[in-house]
Amino acid sequence: MNCSASLAKKHIEKTLFGRRQCRGLTDLRSNALNDILPKISIGEDKLNLDSSTNPSEFFERKYSEHWLEIGFGHGEHLSALMRKNPDTAYIGAEAFINGMSALTLDIKDENLDNIRVIMDDGMIIAKSIKPNSLDGIYLLNPDPWHKKRHHKRRLINQQNLDIFAKILKKDAPLIMSTDVECLANWMVTHASNHPEFNWQAESKSDWQTPPDDWITTRYEVKGAKNAKKMVYLLFERKKND
Ligand SMILES: C[S@@+](CC[C@H](N)C(=O)[O-])C[C@H]1O[C@@H](n2cnc3c(N)ncnc32)[C@H](O)[C@@H]1O
Repeated sequence: MNCSASLAKKHIEKTLFGRRQCRGLTDLRSNALNDILPKISIGEDKLNLDSSTNPSEFFERKYSEHWLEIGFGHGEHLSALMRKNPDTAYIGAEAFINGMSALTLDIKDENLDNIRVIMDDGMIIAKSIKPNSLDGIYLLNPDPWHKKRHHKRRLINQQNLDIFAKILKKDAPLIMSTDVECLANWMVTHASNHPEFNWQAESKSDWQTPPDDWITTRYEVKGAKNAKKMVYLLFERKKND
């Protein structure tokens, strides 16, 4: 194992909390996973955790924009975007094999040019890519951990927001959603207090109503335990450095 791969492995071991579980994949899903994942996976050599990789290096051709979605679940949002915007490149991370197998089954008959993924902690990608290189980030219902003792595991925290601010271009959106009230408060407080982000909401309806063309996922329809209403949190990376 080379140095960067071993670094990435240490990071993974430290952060994944054993989330890479598999609950009885069907043959269909397991075949799609075996067939498609190798074609769309980002190579370990590009995941050096040293802010040096241009996201365009993940793709075979040039794209007008590069977007990242961390924790894509079954991938409905990512695959819908990929189909809708063939000239935009999408990078996705999902730690669970069940989610990744659902995405690969969904897109197995598509042209796979504009999507690249890792089945791991999305922060590995975020820490590997160059500053000012992303056109947007989606973090949709990312943190299923509501309890206080799980706060350290949350994807939205000051340290990760620093990294998101670094890799987003100026004015680029950070789009988050959650249906758990305490997480919504947590996300708003952390992102609003961050010096590099502006919250775009001007009134209650801005965060209670899905943005135009919002793609609804199965999770969003089904809702989480203790969930009330979905909130849509649109932040923007500030212009100034
Ligand atoms: C509640 S589900 C939501 C899925 C999807 N975003 C949606 O809204 O339908 C949260 C997903 O985020 C994934 N996840 C959470 N933190 C992650 C991380 N740091 N890297 C990769 N996946 C992550 C979990 O494995 C899980 O599948």
